[in-house]
Amino acid sequence: MVYYNKRKYLSALFFLLKHLIPQPNLLQFSVCRSPLGMSRGQILDEDISASSQWSDSTAAKYGRLDCEEGDGAWCPEIAGEPENINEFLQIDLRSLHFITLVGTQGRHAGGIGNEFAQTYKIKYSRDGSRWISWRNRQGKEVIEANRNAYDIVLKDLEPPIIARFIRFMPVIDHSMNVCMRVELYGCEWLDGLVSYNSPVGQQMTLNGQYIYLNDSVYDGAMKGLGQLTDGMCGLDDFTHSHVYNVWPGYDYVGWTNESFSNGYVEIMFEFDRTRNFTTMKVHCNNMFSRRVKTFQKVVCYFRSESDWEATPISFSPVMDDVNPSARFVTVSLYNHMASAIKCQYYFSDIWMMFSEITFQSGDDPTHKVDDSNTRILIGCLVAIIFILVAIIVIILWRQVWQKMLEKSPLAWFGNCQSFPRPQRIPVSSRCGVWNIYAISYIHIHVYFVYFSAASTNTSSKSPPVSVQEGVPHYAEADIVNLQGVTGGNTYAVPALTMDLLSGKDVAVEEFPRKLLTFKEKLGEGQFGEVHLCEAEGIQDFMDEDFSFDVIENQTVLVAVKMLRTDANKNARNDFLKEIKIMSRLKDPNIIRLLAVCMSSDPLCMITEYMENGDLNQFLSRHEPEGMIALLSNAPTVSYSNLHHMATQIASGMKYLSSLNFVHRDLATRNCLVGKNFTIKIADFGMSRNLYSGDYYRIQGRAVLPIRWMSWESILLGKFTTSSDVWAFGVTLWEMLTFCKEQPYSQLSDEQVIENTGEFFRDQRRQIYLPQPPMCPDPVYKLMLSCWHRNTKERPSFQEIHHTLLDCKP
Ligand SMILES: *[C@@H]1O[C@H](CO)[C@@H](O)[C@H](O)[C@H]1NC(C)=O
Ligand SMILES: *[C@@H]1O[C@H](CO)[C@@H](O)[C@H](O)[C@H]1NC(C)=O
Ligand SMILES: *[C@@H]1O[C@H](CO)[C@@H](O)[C@H](O)[C@H]1NC(C)=O
Repeated sequence: MVYYNKRKYLSALFFLLKHLIPQPNLLQFSVCRSPLGMSRGQILDEDISASSQWSDSTAAKYGRLDCEEGDGAWCPEIAGEPENINEFLQIDLRSLHFITLVGTQGRHAGGIGNEFAQTYKIKYSRDGSRWISWRNRQGKEVIEANRNAYDIVLKDLEPPIIARFIRFMPVIDHSMNVCMRVELYGCEWLDGLVSYNSPVGQQMTLNGQYIYLNDSVYDGAMKGLGQLTDGMCGLDDFTHSHVYNVWPGYDYVGWTNESFSNGYVEIMFEFDRTRNFTTMKVHCNNMFSRRVKTFQKVVCYFRSESDWEATPISFSPVMDDVNPSARFVTVSLYNHMASAIKCQYYFSDIWMMFSEITFQSGDDPTHKVDDSNTRILIGCLVAIIFILVAIIVIILWRQVWQKMLEKSPLAWFGNCQSFPRPQRIPVSSRCGVWNIYAISYIHIHVYFVYFSAASTNTSSKSPPVSVQEGVPHYAEADIVNLQGVTGGNTYAVPALTMDLLSGKDVAVEEFPRKLLTFKEKLGEGQFGEVHLCEAEGIQDFMDEDFSFDVIENQTVLVAVKMLRTDANKNARNDFLKEIKIMSRLKDPNIIRLLAVCMSSDPLCMITEYMENGDLNQFLSRHEPEGMIALLSNAPTVSYSNLHHMATQIASGMKYLSSLNFVHRDLATRNCLVGKNFTIKIADFGMSRNLYSGDYYRIQGRAVLPIRWMSWESILLGKFTTSSDVWAFGVTLWEMLTFCKEQPYSQLSDEQVIENTGEFFRDQRRQIYLPQPPMCPDPVYKLMLSCWHRNTKERPSFQEIHHTLLDCKP
């Protein structure tokens, strides 16, 4: 007998992926990836041009990613022989930008269009006259693109481009018509460097192996940018590289003193305009055992207007013969005004190798940073100030928007030009310093579309704002925010997360659809439905490590999540990815994917059914044992059962943390209750309607469970197992209050964020959740330890689990 099957029951499980702790070279990609404004309209129509257009309704200005205006895309008029065709869509960004990612899409036009570019090339220019063909690090020009007219395909640019003008050039072979919609992602290029010119990098022979120290991505003949500005710092050992499949020495440009009789290497740098320079940072190798060292002296000359200043500056860094790691050497430029700088770097040993050179000038937000510690500190402060400003802006916008939203939910999605400008991230020096900007939720790599659902629930807690449905869960918000302007959820996983997903194949069995018997609809969403079904003989499909507590040959109740047959490709891909992730999680306290039906439509995933619904609702309708329960005759849960449930959550989280999965949204609403107080952790895309009050909307597109989030997740966007530990503390608090109130219910969302700032400042002004009346002291102590400011001092899930077992009532 199933009592609570009327309750909304959700089976969507989005376990959020392993927190990506990218290598230094990847960090920039998590930061400098804002859409530059094709889809949102910051790039004006007049700045978008093309070699030709097929008709007025397919003009260049319609080549905006995710917009459906005109006839739905830019389409060139193609004439002549393929080899002579050089059609392009050109975007003028008005100033130099650092471009790390591009997105393309075909012409869909609501199902009428079916044109797209299978491959394309990119050309770029800094001055509008010299055009450079982009090549990847392996030298390939052609970029693989779309396979259909609607999906957005994102491509990381490795190396990134520094340019003002970009041309997308579809490769045309007359086998089909080509139309394109595009977006660029990156940030403004604040260095202002437009070219450098250095002596050609040389070749070293090391134990019979050649180490090539040339500037392999230099994009000019005498004037260009290349490895010294590609945002990638070399490793300590110059024979290795971050980049896959390249020759040894790839990351560095290096020279030997034998070819430089005057003892120095001279590099000339030219800038976009006269700037007030504070510092230059040179990332140098210092592997002294191989006779590679940082420069012993640098002499820099400055040119403002047209003349070189007579007096150069000179600087001699302290030589380091102890620590062989590569490092930034910071050279003060003493506020010299210049539009060009020429520096002579003196050898201190046989070899000198650089991987990056960056310049900081007065109008640049992170200038005047001297040693690396202050650099990090100041970087943090800048990041925090930025975030606080962003939060203020968000709060202000939010009020305006809520009004807007309430008025016209659809207007929200209708117009792709009406979005506000995205926040830019300050970017000044690109490598090494990046991690301090690992800013926020907006940068989470994984971008999940939730299986959004309208509730069929008749619960009294109805969602306050109906558009909640279109708002992605915070974990879906990437800096590459592709939230569909049409209200459809578009979806993107940037390339670097793909291998995470494709690492192991789905190890889950196909279940014959005919053995499923429909019992009841549990929920419904935009892309599918969740049914309660009987599954005959599903035991035979399970691995032996999973046991149902059912009698042999009896039918088992399961939750079946089905994708609508007319769901778009994106929803389909998401569905498949969700299956992949879920199929890897096997733990008694994690909701289990039992089987799938993939051989025909509709695609289904079959998960365990937990008859008591989610823990939040379960506890809200129960009372602690005691007088009130006695008087009101309400069902009760004993403290020992509560303790048992908390221990199971800790155990499930212990499993997740052992896989380095970061859940990001642990809360009672995401735990399910089965028979005998068994608990399984899940993450319900669909519960967001019911629990919309628990999430804080960020600029109308991402929602964050701020009351469960650690200070560093809110302020720095860092999601780790330690931030899951914080959320566990809050979850424990919810349980001990029987979910009768929201955490910090007396504080508004804005005050919660302020309180987060107090946690960060740690001046004892932060407010902790109070000790619930029935909470024993050791358990409250455990909670407090989960909210330790210092992540390292928070207990691990292993320790939490242990502690809970120890203080078992
Ligand atoms: C750098 O050296 C490698 C290895 O010899 C070579 O393949 C590559 O073409 C060179 N690049 C440039 C720009 O000279
Ligand atoms: C350069 O910047 C510094 C510090 O901001 C300032 O004191 C100095 O006057 C500036 N120099 C010029 C020539 O503007
Ligand atoms: C290169 O540097 C080494 C070590 O400092 C020195 O012994 C050697 O004489 C230098 N070679 C030339 C050509 O200057």
